[in-house]
Amino acid sequence: MKILITPTSLQPGKNPEALDVLRKFTDNLVFNTTGRPLTEDELIPLLDDCDGYIAGLDFVTEKVLRSCKRLKAISRYGAGYDRVDIDTAKSCGIPVSNTPGVNAEAVGELAFSLILSLARKIPYLDHSTRIGEWNRSTGMELKGKNLGIMGLGAVGKVVARCAKGFEMDVAAYDPYIDTSYCAAHHIRVSTFDELIKHADVISLHLPLNASTRHMIDQKALCRMKPGALLVNTSRGGIIDETAAYEALKNGTLGGLGLDAFETEPPKDSLLFQLDNVVVTPHTGAHTFEATRNMAHAAVQNLIDILSGRECPYIVNQSDTL
Ligand SMILES: NC(=O)c1ccc[n+]([C@@H]2O[C@H](COP(=O)([O-])OP(=O)(O)OC[C@H]3O[C@@H](n4cnc5c(N)ncnc54)[C@H](O)[C@@H]3O)[C@@H](O)[C@H]2O)c1
Repeated sequence: MKILITPTSLQPGKNPEALDVLRKFTDNLVFNTTGRPLTEDELIPLLDDCDGYIAGLDFVTEKVLRSCKRLKAISRYGAGYDRVDIDTAKSCGIPVSNTPGVNAEAVGELAFSLILSLARKIPYLDHSTRIGEWNRSTGMELKGKNLGIMGLGAVGKVVARCAKGFEMDVAAYDPYIDTSYCAAHHIRVSTFDELIKHADVISLHLPLNASTRHMIDQKALCRMKPGALLVNTSRGGIIDETAAYEALKNGTLGGLGLDAFETEPPKDSLLFQLDNVVVTPHTGAHTFEATRNMAHAAVQNLIDILSGRECPYIVNQSDTL
């Protein structure tokens, strides 16, 4: 059996224990030498004679899926699967699995770091101190502030827990909200409109799909509390970046923290000109702990599917755009 492995943190020298498990299953492994997610045109020749595929953040389009005739399983390394055309995979009889929850701690902690960075302007102050300025710009305390979480899944729950440690008042909007979890953890169940209107800080933890694309658009940004902070560690397309730039420029939005972008890597983004924007390169899941967990889970899912065993993490619902 031949397997393509593309995640940048599951390559020779990285996560060797998980790769050893895979090597016991098959020695025929192909790696991604580019150091970044692969495009449609790069994937097609690589997947041509593969039986299995551990997928990073590559673009697994209809064209890719229809061209790889031997492929029997796709194991997504991570929770999100918006870059895999699930409907076409289904119609081609290729099961797709993911690794839900195993990187939640890492992503949630990064989201909260971005919130703290914005509240106390840490990257801006770091830079200005290094260049000889002594600009003690005033920040905002989080205690007693209202945090609105959109998408109270695995990552959203980690952020809620961090916020409770800072004595924030936490509200969440999620169409499939777990009300008993909210009651047990003193999280206010909110509508989208209430959350947008009342939050001092909004953190996004929902999937990107046709109904969530540009959910945070100019209209939503205008209804936010003046000076509110917005953080997105989920997927780029959920925020209209052009509208966010305007909202930051005119002060409607107080700060923006992004780990995910409409185009990755972002090119010549106007957002980078602003001091109240903090960015990281889609690195939410990049902790030693999370990459090890994802590697083991993705390898196990692939082996389970290719061995004809039941895999509990098959993705059924389409999240493609
Ligand atoms: N930055 C990174 O490196 C990184 C890493 C892992 C996950 N992610 C992304 O973070 C997001 C959350 O991941 P997770 O593991 O918590 O997923 P999850 O499936 O556990 O939680 C997602 C939650 O969003 C909710 N939801 C669905 N549609 C919604 C909508 N329209 N409005 C509000 N909520 C909605 C779901 O009910 C669910 O509770 C996903 O987009 C995932 O792709 C990013």
